[in-house]
Amino acid sequence: MALLEVKNLVTEFHTEGGVARALDNVSFTLERGKVLGIVGESGSGKSVTAFSLMNLVDKPGLISGGEIMFNGENLRTASVKRWSQLRGDRIAMVFQDPMMSLNPVMRVGAQLAETVAIHRKASRLEVEQQVLEALKRVGIPAPAERMKAYPHELSGGMRQRVAIANAIINKPDLIIADEPTTALDVTIQAQILYEMKHLARESGTALIWITHDISVVKDLADEVCVMYAGRIIERGPVAQIINHPLHPYTRGLIDSLPHAENHGKRLYSIPGATPPLLSLPPGCSFAPRCSRAKPGCGMTPPVFRAESREHRCFFPLA
Ligand SMILES: Nc1ncnc2c1ncn2[C@@H]1O[C@H](COP(=O)(O)OP(=O)(O)OP(=O)(O)O)[C@@H](O)[C@H]1O
Ligand SMILES: [Mg+2]
Repeated sequence: MALLEVKNLVTEFHTEGGVARALDNVSFTLERGKVLGIVGESGSGKSVTAFSLMNLVDKPGLISGGEIMFNGENLRTASVKRWSQLRGDRIAMVFQDPMMSLNPVMRVGAQLAETVAIHRKASRLEVEQQVLEALKRVGIPAPAERMKAYPHELSGGMRQRVAIANAIINKPDLIIADEPTTALDVTIQAQILYEMKHLARESGTALIWITHDISVVKDLADEVCVMYAGRIIERGPVAQIINHPLHPYTRGLIDSLPHAENHGKRLYSIPGATPPLLSLPPGCSFAPRCSRAKPGCGMTPPVFRAESREHRCFFPLA
């Protein structure tokens, strides 16, 4: 049984201008201990996916369809009480802004201790040891001293490490990381990525890594989902997707990356912009920007499957 099985998930926002379908039949599976990358341009639905999985979608948003099976349990019918057991213990999230998960008026050590104590009965000494261990694992120097610090006394990179320590401390089955390194400088970004992957491997924790930059997940993820306007338009093993994309949108994302051959040249960018959800074109939402579009693209592309790959394009790349 897969750790996470998402089937036809639909999340909608009921706004004055109409119903915006931010997730349109999103499906994927994630095995224990694996890393799944979710990539796509701004507004494609990456964060809504994360919030839907954590049951953190608020009004005017609503999960209106589909299934989220986690360890065989249907999370869509889980009670508030059940969610408080799961969140922070079996499923944890790391946000782009570490202050979304940290309390500004609480010392770092006390916050992490609380995350443990909410979910486990343990002596103070045991908890303290666990906190020290978690801070060490995320590469925080002099963790015994840092435990006494308030979040604002730490650098951005250190603060994000504390937020990650807070996510891993109970050895969850799943961590969802929503662009946790984009605000940090490139060297620290690479370090944290490497360490998160290592941590996930070590503890058998599965990881969902959300980013707008497909090159970030290249060396990190096992599988990748590419999102466009609320749909997963391509999914598969990361190396296959990068070396041989099937959907023209994925091709565009890859061609927009800087690499050795286009060094110094003007980078390719996909023409046009993502359409607003309230005025999506009928059929394939990428068609108006796609050089391969034909009249048939006015129909909604179903999911085409072949071996470990799937995509939603009537005219995939060969
Ligand atoms: N609170 C809200 N009210 C109305 N619509 C919303 C709300 N939150 C999200 N949406 C809709 O869902 C779409 C997807 O948003 P989401 O935050 O998931 O994008 P994203 O892929 O995470 O983008 P980014 O890379 O900028 O973080 C938005 O374009 C917007 O149309
Ligand atoms: Mg986002």
